[in-house]
Amino acid sequence: MSKKKVEPIILAIDTSCDDTAVSLVRGEIILVNIVASQVELHKQYGGVFPTVAKQAHRENIDPTVKLALKRAGLKMKDIAAVAVTVGPGLAPSLEVGINKAKDIAIEFKKPFISVNHIEGHLLSPLAKRNTITKNGDNKKKEKEVKKALKTKFPILGVVVSGGHTDFVLIKEYGKYERIGFSIDDAAGECLDKIGRMVYLGYPAGPVIEEFAKKGDENRFKFPLPMTQVKDYNMSFSGLKTFARNLVIKLKQEAIIEGKKGLDKQTVYDVCASAQKGVFRHILYKLEKVLEEEDVKEIWLGGGVAANVTLRKILRFKANQYGIKFRAPYTNKLCSDNAAMIGLVGAKKFERGEVIVKPGELEKIDRNPRWRIGNLI
Ligand code: KG4
Ligand code: ZN
Repeated sequence: MSKKKVEPIILAIDTSCDDTAVSLVRGEIILVNIVASQVELHKQYGGVFPTVAKQAHRENIDPTVKLALKRAGLKMKDIAAVAVTVGPGLAPSLEVGINKAKDIAIEFKKPFISVNHIEGHLLSPLAKRNTITKNGDNKKKEKEVKKALKTKFPILGVVVSGGHTDFVLIKEYGKYERIGFSIDDAAGECLDKIGRMVYLGYPAGPVIEEFAKKGDENRFKFPLPMTQVKDYNMSFSGLKTFARNLVIKLKQEAIIEGKKGLDKQTVYDVCASAQKGVFRHILYKLEKVLEEEDVKEIWLGGGVAANVTLRKILRFKANQYGIKFRAPYTNKLCSDNAAMIGLVGAKKFERGEVIVKPGELEKIDRNPRWRIGNLI
């Protein structure tokens, strides 16, 4: 009987924004994925308040690491390495995770792995459920597992989140080229800001998705930006301005009609039309990429990847081009999480991209603007 390779377990931490996230992964298998969310804390500001985020991370980090180990039934001695997000993100937030990872690396003599948050979102569709039973059997058939593993490069990674809207060519694991990005607001940020105009709270993206289902996406025609620009870059601020002017106009009309504010149906229609406008822009540029670049698969990641309509549009486009489409198996892997950081950590560990010398560890610092494809 052939002895199967047991993959090393990586402890991963992400504190890049407003979630304290800790995960344990074995290769591409997610053992535990814990997120201590700060959404409630930041709601009152309508966005993330960095010093508040840092304080909450400080309070949450130790209990979250402990809980992750407990849930997985593991001890520090079972861990092969510690991986942590070093950037991009909010500097004060990043610092908390990095310091914790350094402490673990020193105290327990574990290799340290620096991870780029965007690389995490990019590889998130790779994540697999833990299908190993307690007595070590795999519930999945060998054939199924092998089929899931087949991947063809180059892959087009599409990251759509609250902080980024990027097209990244994944040439192989660890080799990336960012070929397109938003020159101003990110797609999620744009949806959040439009949602705020119609009082949907923060983050508004998921509410917009729900409201859009009840609305008429053709009632308001949002412009299609950047069609004259030949590159793959995007711009969402014009859509935001269009929405602002539209909402002002609609509110004035409502007042003239003697209403207090926008009626429900109008809000639904604004949501549906805005969502269509944002996704249409992404799709337009995606099509350009598919026409001009050699792409074998499309992988979607980031908070907005939770949106079913966006997935459908991209899957449909991939089908048209005869290429495979992948997105994370659960929404918990779309929004910020540490499991995706663990996935990248596992790949880097395999390639030996780790830090073991305390002198080198000291030099590791947060990198709030770390661009994917660049060395740290
Ligand atoms: O990846 P993420 O959790 O954080 C960043 O790294 O930015 O993304 C959060 C963004 C927010 O803008 C949120 O409104 C958006 O993802 N979002 C959605 C949905 N779920 C989250 N946007 C549209 N539809 C959704 N279902
Ligand atoms: Zn993110």
